[in-house]
Amino acid sequence: MSPDSKKNVLFVDDEPEILAAIQDSLEPFSDGWRLQFASGGEEALELLNHERVHVLVTDLQMPGMDGAHLLAEARRRHPETARVVMSGYYDKETALRLVCATHQYLPKPCEAGRLSDVITRILRLRDLLTSETLQRLVTRIKSLPSMPTVYVQLMEELGKDDPELEKIGQIISRDPAMSAKILQLVNSAYFGLSRDISHPSEATMFLGVDLIRGLVLMAHVFTQFDKVKMDTFSIERVMEHSWLTGVLARAVAMSEQLDARSCDHAFIAGLLHDIGKLILVANLPQLYLDVVQTTAAEGITVSEAEADVIGCNHAEVGAYLIGLWGLPDPVVEGVAFHNRSIEIDQGQPGIPTIVYLASELEKLMGSQSGPRAVPEMAADKFRDAGVADRLQSWWDVCETVLKRH
Ligand SMILES: [Fe+2]
Repeated sequence: MSPDSKKNVLFVDDEPEILAAIQDSLEPFSDGWRLQFASGGEEALELLNHERVHVLVTDLQMPGMDGAHLLAEARRRHPETARVVMSGYYDKETALRLVCATHQYLPKPCEAGRLSDVITRILRLRDLLTSETLQRLVTRIKSLPSMPTVYVQLMEELGKDDPELEKIGQIISRDPAMSAKILQLVNSAYFGLSRDISHPSEATMFLGVDLIRGLVLMAHVFTQFDKVKMDTFSIERVMEHSWLTGVLARAVAMSEQLDARSCDHAFIAGLLHDIGKLILVANLPQLYLDVVQTTAAEGITVSEAEADVIGCNHAEVGAYLIGLWGLPDPVVEGVAFHNRSIEIDQGQPGIPTIVYLASELEKLMGSQSGPRAVPEMAADKFRDAGVADRLQSWWDVCETVLKRH
């Protein structure tokens, strides 16, 4: 491998022994990487200015420019670099201060296997999104906008003298943007949990009212969508479709007798499967209008139009963001491959196939009126995904669930 094709990974720590230990312990894992080291924020910025760094891993407490300052500067000047904190010191204020500038948090000391896993995962994600312009756009994102109605509901509940955590959890779990952000935070090293938390309601319980209030009022991580004017595209509909797809995907996963964690993964992957559309609409509204018009004019799928107009599709963009934010792998895969689950699941209905077909069933059922029969279109999609035998039972499951909502 030529030095140019290697990926640069920069570690920043004021203690030379720690940098030496990282170098030694990563040696067996770092094929294809060029490890670089800096002893402080200023030195790291200098390096970032001179060459492309793919992943920055920094300590927080350092003399001179500290980690938080370095992360903020790196985000501003070099948004394409993925940002990871590795620190033995976290408290609530630090977590809130860093939640917008950091993609992932690791404990210190961090076991070499875990550290190399995180770096490998971040570097692999880049293959999903090959356009550098889009990588830069997504890496820069701090948070995503929510529907104004949901935002207002959350503010109302938080403004009460005695806000109910359960209600807050319900509000958040209906909103893809809030759910993704809250799962990013709860799965960070700050909480030191040994397993991933995949359900927004569970995440809310862990965070508690005070921290969620802090996220909303101090860190401003939840924002509202500016009214996007598109006659043929409704953000409300994307949000509703996302929530229902999550609900259906969980019900189908349960009917397939997947374990409880996988059922949660199916729900969150369903809820987040179209989050890439929110990213694209919020950041490139004019281009997305072209996508909507091209889809209608040429009779092609949304993903095909996105690839033509923008150069990649919403599944790739969404998976890239939630992968950077450290959401669990099955969720990232479910989002990444929800439009081409055939290649990834190979006939065994895993989360990508479940999310893809739940999304298709939601669209078909929503547009059906009168007596419900399985339409030919659904039969085709199930056959293509290699799970034709599941059609009737999944259809029944989804119909029962949708009747309840
Ligand atoms: Fe989609």
